Amino acid sequence: MKQSWWQHAVVYQVYPRSFQDSDGDGIGDLAGIIQRLPYIKELGVDVIWLNPVYKSPDRDNGYDISDYRSIQPRFGDMKTFDRLLEQAHALGLHLVMDLVVNHTSDQHEWFKKSRESKDSPYRDFYFWRDGEPGIPPNNWGSYFGGSTWEYDDASKQYYLHLFAKEQPDLNWENPQVRESIWDVMRFWLDKGVDGFRMDVINFISKPEGLPDAPNPEHAAYANVEPMVADGPKLNEYFKEMNSKVLSKYDAMSVGEMPSVTAQDAVEYAGLETGELNMVFQFDHVTLAFNKDPRLGKWNDEPVNLVALKRALSKWQQALDGKAWNSLYWNNHDRARAVSRFGDDRPEFRVRSAKMLALVLHMMQGTPYIYQGEELGMTNAHFTRLEQYQDIESLEAYHQFVDVEHLVDHDTMMRYLATESRDNARTPMQWDATAKGGFTEGTPWLELNTNHDEINVDAELNDPDSVLRFYQRLIELRHNNDLIVYGNYIELDPEDDEVFAYKRQYEGRTMLVLSNFTDQTVTRDYPVPVDGGLMISNYQDDQGATLRPYEAKAFMVA
Ligand code: GLC
Repeated sequence: MKQSWWQHAVVYQVYPRSFQDSDGDGIGDLAGIIQRLPYIKELGVDVIWLNPVYKSPDRDNGYDISDYRSIQPRFGDMKTFDRLLEQAHALGLHLVMDLVVNHTSDQHEWFKKSRESKDSPYRDFYFWRDGEPGIPPNNWGSYFGGSTWEYDDASKQYYLHLFAKEQPDLNWENPQVRESIWDVMRFWLDKGVDGFRMDVINFISKPEGLPDAPNPEHAAYANVEPMVADGPKLNEYFKEMNSKVLSKYDAMSVGEMPSVTAQDAVEYAGLETGELNMVFQFDHVTLAFNKDPRLGKWNDEPVNLVALKRALSKWQQALDGKAWNSLYWNNHDRARAVSRFGDDRPEFRVRSAKMLALVLHMMQGTPYIYQGEELGMTNAHFTRLEQYQDIESLEAYHQFVDVEHLVDHDTMMRYLATESRDNARTPMQWDATAKGGFTEGTPWLELNTNHDEINVDAELNDPDSVLRFYQRLIELRHNNDLIVYGNYIELDPEDDEVFAYKRQYEGRTMLVLSNFTDQTVTRDYPVPVDGGLMISNYQDDQGATLRPYEAKAFMVA
């Protein structure tokens, strides 16, 4: 198997807005990240992935970019960015940027010019279509509620936006659009950044003629994803991106790809032939979605372990030897893992956070840790709508409660408490002081009230903390090719309490056992009582007996 630096790496995701504020405006910034680089280094990770830091009106917290070549003034300036890059590199950390090129902000020069008139040379940078006011060109529903089409009074046409109306979609059919994007990529790679996480990158090729989507549930707007994911020219665009840009640099690339199949992932990110290095797949994410497809991700039912195991195991097996997995529970779009897949009640939080960490970090692939995950940070447990800031959450509330009356206020509040992206975006918890060490000012989003207990300070001082456990997992991976490259065999897929798997490499076998329940269970695995234990979230080992949320990995041969 071809081996590359990013296969041995562990990635730490920094959401700049919520990481560390250095100037008291309540919003995290680049200077704040620089202050905290030693912490990231101490954790032991190899790569930092920065969520967007470009100039943006912040309609979607930076995923609406108005200038790809300048820094969001609230976050700092290009000088500070250069300093961040230099200091990260000096510490041996790689820095990967977010590349958001399915759409721009409506405040981007390209869109402003595109909007000016039908004859603008930039008109074709975006998707403009005829249509009567009130009758959009097709039935596609936007990710943030309502139609994907916005009517422009001045030119009497609609433009396409898969996300907010302030995020118009770029028309990749236009070679000038692609050249402009390659230029942006070169700009950052020439500066020395180490790669890109590519936002919804499998949406960039739209189907010919933009036909209606199937809508069997007669939803107000149809689910757009089957229409835009993995479109007809996607591979062609990846090939061009690779030959014109990526192949010229030693850069890491990971594509965020909703709905991607393992088969397609092998094509896009194949070890020998792929244009990208990795993809973020969504199978273990979407299984938490509502049974009513009209409600999409909004749900509060617990996740079924058998389904979760099936989703993760499928990717482990399908990519083995062919492509490379990215391993993640959390990111800035997901609820906190310990709340969604573990158990965030005080008596089980630490144990179950460690269990989730162990199960994921012992798999094949490159693990991604989202800021605060290494502390076992929990969902925000907000109770009032006013506490939420996230555009997706607020638009979903509006659409489902006010417009469509699909659910009532209380139900939607439960869904938000379970799944809102703001659960992941509350400020990083550095210490037990009033503002958690995040800011001197008023944080842009309320801190989780549990920061007095769950914080970096406390966890650095506790050898049994979730943080210390993450450090050990990272170290184990760095010192163990079996964890990096070993194959994966799932054991007892139908067991709905225990997640068990084996990894094998060069004649050695590792067994991973984890109890996903708050009860003690026993399983008949060949467990050596003494010796062989690599890591566990309990002090002692009771062999075949697995206590609540117990997880361990050991060598059996
Ligand atoms: C991706 C991002 C998300 C953003 C969306 C639109 O899913 O991760 O935060 O809202 O794309 O750019």
